[in-house]
Amino acid sequence: MKDVYIEDISKYVGEEVRLKGWLYNKRSSGKIHFLIVRDGTGFLQATVIRNEVSPEVFELSDKLTQESSIIVEGTVREEPRAKGGYELTVSNVELIQLAEDYPIKLKEHGVDFLLSNRHLWIRTPRQNAILRLRSKLINIIRNFFDEKRFTLVDSPILTPASCEGTTTLFETKYFDKAAYLSQSGQLYNEAAAMALGKVYCFGPTFRAEKSKTRRHLMEFWMVEPEMAFYDLYDMMDLAEDMIIYIIKRILKEGKKELKELGRDISVLEKVDHPFPRITYDEAIDILKKKGFDIHWGDDFGGDEETAISEEFDRPVFVHHYPSEMKAFYMKPDPENEKLSLSADLLAPEGYGEIIGGGQRIDDYDLLYKRMVEENLPIEDYKWYLDLRKYGSCPHSGYGLGIERTLAWIAKLPHVRETIPFPRLLYRIYP
Ligand code: 4AD
Ligand code: MG
Repeated sequence: MKDVYIEDISKYVGEEVRLKGWLYNKRSSGKIHFLIVRDGTGFLQATVIRNEVSPEVFELSDKLTQESSIIVEGTVREEPRAKGGYELTVSNVELIQLAEDYPIKLKEHGVDFLLSNRHLWIRTPRQNAILRLRSKLINIIRNFFDEKRFTLVDSPILTPASCEGTTTLFETKYFDKAAYLSQSGQLYNEAAAMALGKVYCFGPTFRAEKSKTRRHLMEFWMVEPEMAFYDLYDMMDLAEDMIIYIIKRILKEGKKELKELGRDISVLEKVDHPFPRITYDEAIDILKKKGFDIHWGDDFGGDEETAISEEFDRPVFVHHYPSEMKAFYMKPDPENEKLSLSADLLAPEGYGEIIGGGQRIDDYDLLYKRMVEENLPIEDYKWYLDLRKYGSCPHSGYGLGIERTLAWIAKLPHVRETIPFPRLLYRIYP
């Protein structure tokens, strides 16, 4: 008998197969037990008929509890009435472990309860689909950069210096010194780009942000490309190509998952060239027209980003933010120093900023001056300044947040479901 996975079940119609998994749900009438079995690749109805199995197997099926681990054998049949279109007519059931008092019942639970049971919550069909989409999304992004012949260069997690401002650092000890968890691999990426031309890093990043919004996590994954001899516009072109590549492939490869999540994919199907590009000034005008009390120099929060993106049917770039709003490394526009060569990409449907990036300062003196203004400890950044001493060149890059991107693709209400074990303000369990 063949060991198979549920995702391949359609290939075995009429054959005897063996499945290893868990009991997700059960319905019974006097003579039949309908076991819904899951094996990590899918869910399948397994029908146990009294007259067709031994009395022991029928009794065991009656006794099985939610999430008990089992091995089930039977014949695969097409069954249009079953979810997925197939079922197993069971010949044998073997119990591996009987699960008692499983806490997550198949009814609505509060989100706090579910988050406290995240280690079990991920077994449900919806969470399964989200995690599978996440895995596909990451694979697709890696493929994109590999096809464009970028080199993956891992940046360190433990760092002596900050990249995105000193207010959101998680501090830890590095023996007798202070160290921080990385907020972004960008600074190391810049060194790597000067060595290898086109590079990207992809890893967890950390921000001690006292923000309790549906878009903020304390630990999130970011993919960050960095390119030597790219200006701001080259950077936006690359980001646009990347997003279109991602969406086209996820629509093909994530069909089953998007369907499970009930995602209306018509919005995703519209994602194509060209993405609208507006300046920060134009964005301010849009907001004023929409009745926002906003002034030049103000940063955009979730509501502002949503209002801007509502004007467009696909992702929109906002570029040339005021220099004072952006990080120390952002290059000022040579034609107007008050503006920076920065760009964010805002996702449609109210998902806000999914990409942040821009062109970096390549002049040593200007970078030094900006670092002094920001009170950065120059000693810790000497290596970074070296990059402007030895073969400096125009260069640009950006960071894409995986969780926000996935929240948009899957149209989820909150980023907490897009990462296996979310780190939220006031929550680090489980
Ligand atoms: O705009 P950010 O802060 O940019 C940087 O970190 C640059 N150093 C990246 C670069 O140029 N290499 O963050 C980039 C993206 C955001 O657009 C967002 O998608 C995500 O990272 N992000 C978060 N996602 C979840 N929770 C948070 N607290 C996030 N902060 C940023
Ligand atoms: Mg940003």
